[in-house]
Amino acid sequence: MKKRILTGITTTGTPHIGNYLGAIKPALKQAKNYDESYYFLADYHAIIKNSDNKEVSESVKNVALAWLASGLDVDKSFFYRQSDIPEILELSWILNCVTAKGLMNRSHAYKAAINNNKEDEDKGITMGLFSYPILMAADILMFNATHVPVGADQIQHLEMTRDIAARFNHIYKKTFELPEAIIQSKKDTVPGTDGQKMSKSYGNIIPLLSTEKQLHKSIAKIVTNSLEPGEAKNPSNCTVFKLYKYFASDEMIAEFESDYKDGIGWGDAKNKLFSVVNNEMSPIRDKYDSLVNDKNLLNDLLNEGSNKVRPIAKEMLSSIRDSIGIKKIS
Ligand code: TRP
Repeated sequence: MKKRILTGITTTGTPHIGNYLGAIKPALKQAKNYDESYYFLADYHAIIKNSDNKEVSESVKNVALAWLASGLDVDKSFFYRQSDIPEILELSWILNCVTAKGLMNRSHAYKAAINNNKEDEDKGITMGLFSYPILMAADILMFNATHVPVGADQIQHLEMTRDIAARFNHIYKKTFELPEAIIQSKKDTVPGTDGQKMSKSYGNIIPLLSTEKQLHKSIAKIVTNSLEPGEAKNPSNCTVFKLYKYFASDEMIAEFESDYKDGIGWGDAKNKLFSVVNNEMSPIRDKYDSLVNDKNLLNDLLNEGSNKVRPIAKEMLSSIRDSIGIKKIS
């Protein structure tokens, strides 16, 4: 059986170092262990939470740039935009028809949203939010992905995908593989400048696609304590140190640890962090610069991606339509 890895990023906001370290980089690294890899821009997921059309289209562009600048090889993988593959939406409807409403009622994201409501529990809840996991299942099952790297917050969505797939297989015929989640471990949560999980909603991000100067500024903002240079410092639970570990070799990490014992000043520690981050960012920045002003290139790459992926989706969908009785009259 072919092993297929698939993952998507919802196109909201500006990609940051947390997305890069937590999702993009590990997904790209894993590709070599699989027969096929699928990476896509989940723009129909984006409109669930964001009705600002400018923000949505800006973010599609930035997330695409982030993947490509980070080294995604379009010749070795499938890279596409969800909205370019309308078959996914068709499959999503078909899956809606085999999904129990009760299953969706149990969704953590939906339950959190209704819990925030006081008098009317459905206030502000769209059907899009309610059936979000079904669209995600369609993304995955469309290509019979076997492995899906996601954050810990997405475990339930993968369980739901398996439920929905099994239900379809049971009612009609065995069509879908039950995909496995590859979970980024909790202890690998990338901290933001304030030490909490890096997230746009906490305002603590270090942007991925930034100039050297902006990067330096973001790193300078990292919150530390008031220990003076010369005073020994504790590397565990230190945001500067945690981030450093993502970018440095084991040797460098051991050296940095002894710098802490020897009382390195926060300014110097941050400069060391800047230097390793900047090293890794520098080719990404160059690639980004070469892509950002060439809108045709970006559109061409996405068109090529959709041309590669659509025939696969069409074939799968046609067999599914057949199974459910949506076929030529005989
Ligand atoms: N829901 C995912 C997130 O917010 C994004 C996503 C959409 C996804 N469809 C997917 C991830 C399919 C993996 C597979 O992070």
